[in-house]
Amino acid sequence: MKKLICFLVVILACTQVALSQSREVKVLKANWKFQKGDFEAAHKVNFNDSKWESVTVPHDWAIYGPFDKNVDIQKVAIVQNGETIATEKTGRTGALPHIGTAWYRNTFNLPKDVKGKKIILLFEGAMSEPQIYLNGKKVGEWAYGYSYFYFDVSQFIQEGANTLSVKLTNKEFASRWYPGAGLYRNVSVIIKNNESIDQWGQFIKTPFISEELAKVNIKTKVSGENTRLVTTIFDAEGHKLNSSESTIQFGKEFDQNIKVVKPKLWSPETPYLYKAVSQLYVGNELKDENTTVFGIREIKYEANKGFSLNGKSTKFKGVCLHHDLGPLGVAVNKAALRRQMTILKDMGCNAIRSSHNMPSFEQLELADEMGFLFLAESFDEWAKPKVENGYHRFFEEYAEKDIVNLVQATRNHPSIVMWSSGNEVPDQWGEEGVKRAKWLQEIFHREDPTRPVTVGMDQVKATIESGFGALLDIPGLNYRVHLYDEAYKKFPQGFILGSETASTVSSRGIYKFPVVQEKMKQYPDFQSSSYDLEACSWSNVPDEDFVLQDDKPWVIGEFVWTGFDYLGEPTPYDESWPSRSSYFGINDLAGLPKDRYYLYRSRWNTKEPTLHILPHWNWEGREGEITPVFVYTNYNSAELFINGKSMGVQKKNKNTPQNRYRLMWMDVKYEPGKVKVVAFDDNGKAVAEQEVRTAGKPCQIVLNADRKTITANGEDISFVTVSVVDKNGIPCPTATNQLKFKVTGAGTYRAACNGDATSLEMFNKDTMKLFSGKLVVLVKSTITAGDIKLEVNGAGLKSGKLTLNALK
Ligand code: GAL
Repeated sequence: MKKLICFLVVILACTQVALSQSREVKVLKANWKFQKGDFEAAHKVNFNDSKWESVTVPHDWAIYGPFDKNVDIQKVAIVQNGETIATEKTGRTGALPHIGTAWYRNTFNLPKDVKGKKIILLFEGAMSEPQIYLNGKKVGEWAYGYSYFYFDVSQFIQEGANTLSVKLTNKEFASRWYPGAGLYRNVSVIIKNNESIDQWGQFIKTPFISEELAKVNIKTKVSGENTRLVTTIFDAEGHKLNSSESTIQFGKEFDQNIKVVKPKLWSPETPYLYKAVSQLYVGNELKDENTTVFGIREIKYEANKGFSLNGKSTKFKGVCLHHDLGPLGVAVNKAALRRQMTILKDMGCNAIRSSHNMPSFEQLELADEMGFLFLAESFDEWAKPKVENGYHRFFEEYAEKDIVNLVQATRNHPSIVMWSSGNEVPDQWGEEGVKRAKWLQEIFHREDPTRPVTVGMDQVKATIESGFGALLDIPGLNYRVHLYDEAYKKFPQGFILGSETASTVSSRGIYKFPVVQEKMKQYPDFQSSSYDLEACSWSNVPDEDFVLQDDKPWVIGEFVWTGFDYLGEPTPYDESWPSRSSYFGINDLAGLPKDRYYLYRSRWNTKEPTLHILPHWNWEGREGEITPVFVYTNYNSAELFINGKSMGVQKKNKNTPQNRYRLMWMDVKYEPGKVKVVAFDDNGKAVAEQEVRTAGKPCQIVLNADRKTITANGEDISFVTVSVVDKNGIPCPTATNQLKFKVTGAGTYRAACNGDATSLEMFNKDTMKLFSGKLVVLVKSTITAGDIKLEVNGAGLKSGKLTLNALK
């Protein structure tokens, strides 16, 4: 009998295979062929794809460019931005060539005894409108490019070679940001027995938690007759805890309850994870085995008390994130996600909102492991359009299916503490919209009774009047700081979430004078000032949100728009080519912190001190002119010195919103040299200092890797920050040198990014200009272990050299 269970597999080079005794998961990463265009016969087995490009999946076909103004030129009024007259917009979806049809083909092998098995074909995201064919026959289709979906393809497969063909179509005017293009998340083939645990068929809950014990409830949907389920819980160290064995099914579902003694609770500070291993038997024969990672934690949302995690009142110190990874486009990469989340952790951020669609599995795994509270969102549109070819085309047919898949696939992640059914949907207006809000929320509740649902609302007055806001579990306000009090009074929930806040705009290392608060301010260089006083007509500076967060106990937290810059939506330069990526990020598109990073860090990171000076001090030509100095710090007061002369002590002042969170010396006159700040504790004792110096001419290239040792798996990436310093080692903050990159040894050059929203240099080319003295080079591992050497050169500069190490 054993033979039936353990079958031999032909392992494709570089295809990841997870083998348990009874099921096999093949992640189809290698051997893909790709071609843009439509081909009538590309679904047929004997179609000749030998001339097509060889690619690996995850893949984004559009990120290699070129940037082109004509890709997404459109004459529209962006109604969400309060516009009434249509004007020409460029760069709205990143100006990258993502529109059109393309095909992917992959031939993979299945073992001899595969007929009679259950074969699942799983897509974790396909941009977009995927049509799936296996061995020449249509298997199925989906619509939304952000959804996870699967098909049972048992009837379509054969022994030996199988040919999978996928057609993808991206329409124009289908997005408000860069959606990417292609098979940008994993595609897997799962081979299991007919008696097996259903796809996403397990739901783990922890209905009772005390210090002594937790009751873990595990519901498992299965297929097949006369089955017996044994589920065992392991702790994070791999110790076997308790197990349960059941033969009784409720419908097609086992319902097991297992005790965990003295449970270790999951939280952002202590992201402790357990594992449930479920084994399905018929008689004594193991038919299937499935492992689910879960956490034990309690979430509560209460009127006037707000959100609590494990009994501890907790505020969301969150950021919104779009799904692109800057220079990698939307092709999911765990190293890139981990780097983003490491940067966010250091900032003290504890929460992420996947705006405005389903998060990748990789991001959720990292959120569980690293400790982030997660708001998983589904849609940016319901039945009423925001863009001509948006999700409204699919809403009626797909909304329920998309939510079911989102919830079933991800509900065991302890990090997810809230769902969102929509963002600023135009359906906030009118009776139909109220009904849709209720319908969608009830689908979430049916699939997951343990978590509440929100919608990011910008039409606050309308939703107060219509009942739309009142029916939601969690009323989420996008911006509208002036309406928080009214919304709190009129809504019945007793708390308000800042589901989207700030939308302050800035460009890393760019400062504009005079220093004044502005809305929709534009400059000839298409950059925004890093004094962090510029926002959009509908948005605000961070300080205004901080006041609400601090003074209103019923505000349960905020999700800042956005943690990182993203491709597309170059507001306030929607009409200014070549702006093609956002200015909203706390960090730029390369992942480099802007000044704002330190403003949030000074509030959110309560463990380590923050003391940050801005602007830089290279202002040739501004001698004697007013050049204000700001300090972002957790200390309440500090003294500023310019070339040793005191500019006086500044103290945070609760009564003026701007002085409440920043220390500002508005009258400083520029003279080259040294800016020094000395911070005081509450007893007036000098406890920390920081300085910024005027740099001389660029002299030497300096390289700094986020990780010097990476894994030789063909996917891992080291992110190397490249900067230039003068002959004394002082960073040159305005350098724009053109640099060239060379990678040799056991790695490859993957991409570079300088964070300049107006740059038309392609990320995958081995040359780029510095922006405000910096850029980031991405070095990727191969599947060979060994040293990787990166060399960066620039005319007239001493080269930068760095050796990384790839380990098996
Ligand atoms: C919000 C919207 C976001 C983004 C942002 C820019 O209204 O939800 O997707 O467009 O504005 O400020």
